[in-house]
This record gives sequence, structure tokens and C-alpha cells, in this order.
Amino acid sequence: MVVKRWEILENLIVAFGCKSIVEVGVRKGDIAIYLLDSVRGIEKYYIVDIDFSVLNLVPIQKYGSIVSLHNMSSVLAAKEIPDDLDMVFIDAEHSYEACKEDIEAWLPKVRNGGIICGHDYCDDCPGIAQAVHECLGSEINLEYDGDVNIWWTRK
Ligand SMILES: C[S@@+](CC[C@H](N)C(=O)[O-])C[C@H]1O[C@@H](n2cnc3c(N)ncnc32)[C@H](O)[C@@H]1O
Repeated sequence: MVVKRWEILENLIVAFGCKSIVEVGVRKGDIAIYLLDSVRGIEKYYIVDIDFSVLNLVPIQKYGSIVSLHNMSSVLAAKEIPDDLDMVFIDAEHSYEACKEDIEAWLPKVRNGGIICGHDYCDDCPGIAQAVHECLGSEINLEYDGDVNIWWTRK
């Protein structure tokens, strides 16, 4: 049975008791909406995207102050979002340079024992694997979502 990307994230959030979560690159907000609707105990969900033009705001805004919106680049958002995050999910630009810049910006923001993870670890995006291993080493967990892998590790 294929586990979709939002279910993989849901399982990680539940398994590790994540309460503060950042999604870097949200496009329409499908994952955010799924997780906010499905997972109990999320206290803060930070939405980061350089382009909010397709973001589906209505179902997100019903979560009020649980959601924090950051319409700016990943690197700028990392400067204004608080530290000690339980999970950061990176799914913005998929080049080696951009993915490395994102990991370097967000890794210091994750609490010890928290999760840093991302999408599109696959043959079509070789820069992601390269950046992930350079920044985080070889011991990375991969979970297939029916299309590509989600990579994740604990800090
Ligand atoms: C693949 S989509 C995200 C998909 C979403 N996580 C999902 O699973 O439904 C990538 C998003 O990253 C955003 N993006 C690209 N570069 C960015 C950057 N440097 N900072 C913030 N967002 C960026 C794009 O605007 C786009 O909405």
C-alpha cells in the first residue's frame, strides 16, 4: 500500500510528538490543510512560501493563531521564525544550491531531537540527495510516497 506524502508527515508528527512545524514551500497548502485537519496537538504551523498567489487561504485561516503566514523567501523566514522547532519540512526550490541553502538555514532552527525532512529525494532531483547528504550525512531515512521519497532525520 502506498503511503502519501501527507500521511508520511502525519506519522512522523505523531511518532515524535511534534507541536511546532514549518512547511517551507506550500504551493496551494494541501499538506498544511490535511495536517491541521487530521492531527491533534499541533500548536503552531508556520507556512512559508515566496509566492502566495495560489495558496488556499480560507481553510487555513480557520485555524486562527495556530497558523503563522510568511510570504517571503525560505532564508528570510528562517530569520524571523522562532528557534526550537519540532519539525521543518523543506519543499521549496529543488536545485542543489537552493536545497543546501534551505537546510543550512533551517537546521539550526530545529530543536535537538526534532525532525528535519524534505520532499523530492529522487533521480529527477539529484541536487536534493547531494545537498541532504553533504549537510546531514549518509544516515538519512527515506520513505516512498508513490512518486518520490521523503527524506528525514532527527537532529
Ligand atoms: C513543490 S511546491 C510545494 C508543494 C507543497 N509542499 C505540497 O506538497 O503540496 C514548491 C513551492 O516552493 C515555493 N518556493 C520556491 N522557492 C522558494 C523560496 N526560496 N522560498 C520560499 N518558497 C519558495 C514555490 O513558490 C512553490 O509554491
